Amino acid sequence: MSDKKNILILAGDGIGPEAMAQVNRVIDWFNANGKTSFEITEGLVGGASYDAHGEPLTEDTLNAAKAADAVLLGAVGGPKWDDLPFDKKPERGLLGLRKELGLFANLRPAVVFDALAEASTLKIEVVSGLDIMIVRELTGGIYFGEPRGIEELPNGERKGVNTLTYTTSEIERIARVAFDLAMKRGKRLCSVDKANVLECTILWRETVEAVHADYPQVELSHMYVDNASMQLVRNPKQFDVIVTTNMFGDIISDTAAMLTGSLGMLPSASLGAPLADGRIPGMYEPVHGSAPDIAGQNIANPLATLLSFSMMLRYSFDDMDGADLLDTAITRVLEMGLRTGDIMQDGKTLVSTSEMGDAVLEELEGLAG
Ligand code: IPM
Ligand code: MG
Repeated sequence: MSDKKNILILAGDGIGPEAMAQVNRVIDWFNANGKTSFEITEGLVGGASYDAHGEPLTEDTLNAAKAADAVLLGAVGGPKWDDLPFDKKPERGLLGLRKELGLFANLRPAVVFDALAEASTLKIEVVSGLDIMIVRELTGGIYFGEPRGIEELPNGERKGVNTLTYTTSEIERIARVAFDLAMKRGKRLCSVDKANVLECTILWRETVEAVHADYPQVELSHMYVDNASMQLVRNPKQFDVIVTTNMFGDIISDTAAMLTGSLGMLPSASLGAPLADGRIPGMYEPVHGSAPDIAGQNIANPLATLLSFSMMLRYSFDDMDGADLLDTAITRVLEMGLRTGDIMQDGKTLVSTSEMGDAVLEELEGLAG
């Protein structure tokens, strides 16, 4: 890559900053070795932003995110901010970024590294070789539907309301992303809904069916979400690409994460529609949360954040070589037996967050040299 690209780093809360520190080192390595030419801007989001500015997402951060070529986010949230009013909570910062940047397509790959197949709580034969892609709709559905809120009823009761809505265009665009991905992979797509109960997902199913006409080579199936959650632990390898709504995707992607051994291993990419200037908005973040219980101890697993950077290279910068290089370095470190606490197994070597970073850098050196 020749021209300078700008990456906005929002490390966020909890283990976000310590995991991100390892990514910063890796980005420095890529730059120093002439593999990339990234300019880093850093900003605050979530609780960290609230503490500094009284808002989980400021205009400045939002504008920086819009101006950047890609955003890398750590994690948000923690008990410290639990009692804040709803609109000040750290999670609102993350949801605000997703919405304001129009990041409607959330790609959550669940890949089992051979070295980690035994770290899963599931039988090795169930998970070894697993490689599935969950495509989660990210800017619609019950997360954003109106009306919403908690209201007082005349009888003194309170009533909580959230609304599940999807328009055909919202469903079509996420379906296209999923079909396109399926075409590049195993050509099988499973759409997950609750069409036996929710009208909104009857429309979801019909619309996915309609888009299928443009992708005749893809084998399309449908599954109710309760069954899908069961099938994911029963026989996850039956899936190739899964496409689903915002909330169902939130839930089943955590399930899929555990197939891989740890939530600490899963990256994600959130992409928007191409802008007038040709850029495609992209934000990359680990699927795991801020893990406040282990924050600041240098024991968190930085690999999901590192793998998120690899996804950034792949999806925002079309840098397949760079992404493959980093993925290979991570695979090797795992094969060498290095483990953070969350993926620790008998006979392996327990390492800290920064030691994991050291090892990845060493492997990068070795692979490049
Ligand atoms: C995720 C998280 C978020 C979500 C939270 C932190 C708002 O669980 O990215 O899966 O629900 O989308
Ligand atoms: Mg989640």
